[in-house]
Amino acid sequence: MTNDIDNPSSPSSRRDFLKTSAMAGIAASFGVAPRVVGASSLQAEPAAFAGPIAISSRNGQQSVLKAMELIQSGADALDAVVAGVNLVEEDPEDTSVGYGGLPNALGVVQLDSAVMHGLTCRAGSVGCIEGIMYPSKVAKLVLERTDHVNLVGQGAQDFAVMHGFPVQNLLTEKARLEWVKWRENMSTQDDYLPKHQPGSTGIGDLAAPIKRHWGTIHCSAIDLAGNISCVTTTSGMAFKVPGRIGDSPVIGAGLYCDNTVGAAGSTGRGEANLENLASFLIVERMRAGDSPQAACLYACQRIADHTKLARLLDANGRPDFNVQFYALNIKGEVGGAEIWGGNGTFAAATPAGGRLVDLAYLYKAK
Ligand code: GLY
Repeated sequence: MTNDIDNPSSPSSRRDFLKTSAMAGIAASFGVAPRVVGASSLQAEPAAFAGPIAISSRNGQQSVLKAMELIQSGADALDAVVAGVNLVEEDPEDTSVGYGGLPNALGVVQLDSAVMHGLTCRAGSVGCIEGIMYPSKVAKLVLERTDHVNLVGQGAQDFAVMHGFPVQNLLTEKARLEWVKWRENMSTQDDYLPKHQPGSTGIGDLAAPIKRHWGTIHCSAIDLAGNISCVTTTSGMAFKVPGRIGDSPVIGAGLYCDNTVGAAGSTGRGEANLENLASFLIVERMRAGDSPQAACLYACQRIADHTKLARLLDANGRPDFNVQFYALNIKGEVGGAEIWGGNGTFAAATPAGGRLVDLAYLYKAK
């Protein structure tokens, strides 16, 4: 089933929007219990949607509202989605994106971001950029002010500085402490010790290993002119090998859009996505007739089929990691899926308001 988020019977319907002031009505719509959308309901006919729409990973609830507010005032979809994710890039509480993002193995925050503009079929990206709070803005400048698509490392930072961005310390105290905890607990064979009682042996008292995460925010939108754009931005895999880039700054992996079809983007284990160019795959599946949700599930299955290494598989031969995909099409239909799920949701906003929509899934998470 395609998620028709403009369902007039929903609390965030256009009728409700007309009754309320714009932002109040939109803000109130979040928190609505999401509908259960499982793989079994894929056969239902998608409902058509006409008008602007924005979607994002779940951490972008404010982002889609911001994007929709700008779109309604006439903004291009690219400007709208970048302004939307800027809210999360500057948020120290989100440890997966921008300022406050978890650092690499050496304690340095290295950020990745990419943008794509459907009308002009152009893209820009930065990888492994340090000290710049808004990598998505720099990715957009790469698109607008260079003849290139990707800038990385020092070159990306130099380019940002050239355009007036300040170099800042992005490592918050919260993220630094998480990194120290990871470093001190990663091995019993090295000389870093977690806090322990003086009378204990110390090394034998290691806390539970820290689970690393792949956060990220993706946001796609269609503006009033029917143009599609998207952005993905992240601090990447927590405690990664310095210099690693994930899927987020790679066009076709972390995001992709085509003005005649739709857009897709991802969060989760970037390496799996990079090896399958899943956002491109999803857009091409939608071009061939898949609904956004069916296309996202197809990409999840492709990753499961292509995951062969034993260290990445569970006892039943299934991927031992998660990846999420989010997609919309030119008709305004939206959908998302993840490999492991059951409770996952993503954010969506129309002029009628914002709401959370369930992610379909391949395997039910334990
Ligand atoms: N998907 C984010 C990353 O792997 O860096």
